Amino acid sequence: MSDHKGFTSSFGAIAAAVGSAVGLGNIWRFPYICGQYGGGAFLLVYLCFVFGIGMMLMITEFVIGRHTGKTPVKAYEAMSPKHRGWRYAGLLGMVACFLILSLYLVISGWTANYVFDSARGALTGLDGDALERYFNVFSRSAVRPVLFIAVFLLLVALVIMGGVQKGIERVSKILMPVLVVLLLILCVRSATLPGAAKGFEYLFSVDFSKLTSEGVLAALGQSLFSLSVGMGTMIVYGSYIPKDDNLLRTSVWITVCDTLIAVLAGVAIFPAVFANGLSPDGGPGLVFKVLPVVFNSMNPAEGVPVGTVFAVVFFVLLVIAALTSAISLLETLVAWRSEEKPHHRVRYTVILSLGVFVLATVLSLSNGVLDGKIVGKFNLFDLADHINSVYLPPIGALLTVVFLGWVANKNDIKDELSNHGSIAIPWYGIFIFIIRYVAPVALLMVLVTGIISGIEN
Ligand code: PFF
Repeated sequence: MSDHKGFTSSFGAIAAAVGSAVGLGNIWRFPYICGQYGGGAFLLVYLCFVFGIGMMLMITEFVIGRHTGKTPVKAYEAMSPKHRGWRYAGLLGMVACFLILSLYLVISGWTANYVFDSARGALTGLDGDALERYFNVFSRSAVRPVLFIAVFLLLVALVIMGGVQKGIERVSKILMPVLVVLLLILCVRSATLPGAAKGFEYLFSVDFSKLTSEGVLAALGQSLFSLSVGMGTMIVYGSYIPKDDNLLRTSVWITVCDTLIAVLAGVAIFPAVFANGLSPDGGPGLVFKVLPVVFNSMNPAEGVPVGTVFAVVFFVLLVIAALTSAISLLETLVAWRSEEKPHHRVRYTVILSLGVFVLATVLSLSNGVLDGKIVGKFNLFDLADHINSVYLPPIGALLTVVFLGWVANKNDIKDELSNHGSIAIPWYGIFIFIIRYVAPVALLMVLVTGIISGIEN
């Protein structure tokens, strides 16, 4: 049995897992890659992957976590004691969490800075060029981004120190509904601007000619990242899910919420971008360079600067999304280290936070002072981003499905999915088929293509 206390209710478990899933991936990344690869056509493929593969991976991680009540390294061992080598799959997840968290903190720090600077009016009145310059100067400077990383990380660490119930569950139950309300406010504003229809067309019209094979693989990669699977995070959260929760129902809820929020983020962004005659393919800079132009255009010549208010709302939304995801990443690491010594939770939170802070600082500086072309065309930041998106999540995901599909005891899986026979699982056959055959093939394809394109570049 688990030696850490889990979530107290189904709602708490869903709120926390949705908190992990909904992050920069939904609000910052999804809209721009959706735009890049053909809008509606990408969305359709994404929907197939997120429910057909991503959600199956989530169920897989939940089964491993809840069945063993342990964190990844020990969970693999506990579920199949004869195959001790699988603990390295868990360890790989920990490395991935550490790396992703460090990168995540850099961008989260940017969002925190944008809340602060929007609120004090530093961005108000700047035009597109000035905003681009602002972003470049800020993200390449040495001190400010690091300061905001520290502030953001402190918030994350405080929640983790509060514990699973009083920290993570409580904060998620408050912040997730707030996030939805803020997002809906922005959607209504964006959708009712004159000229918004073009944004809807861009997002929802299905044009398969724009969907390349690269786009299809990006959709699969994004579906894994967005659901926070492949790194063991959902194994840890799975170990906190109440024993009588229906794992399929919980996973469907999380996947539906995560997907809806990604689509709503597109609705909050694209109609407003088109209404202002701006380009939708701003890529990663869309949120930081293009959206502030949109907000500025909403400010009246005199009176209340509503555009600035919307800017603050948007960046607060982004901070909330990033916060609950970063919490799940740090929790995975802290739960792992303090598994045997739960009373040392605070100590491990401090140590691990310092560790990720150091790496996040180096990554942040690699955009500016340390900007040497270290490996090929990559600076350190890009290299970490590449490893993070191309290698680690698909490898982690592949190992997880192979483990459950081919190594683990089938009775354990059935027991966990049916809550020891108390709920019917007519879908079990499909689930096993997907994790044994479909998911491994799809994940191998993502991995191989990613590696080839990495080499070609
Ligand atoms: N799902 C998060 C997002 O979409 O931003 C990112 C993430 C969080 C990935 C936690 C992996 C993870 F373990």
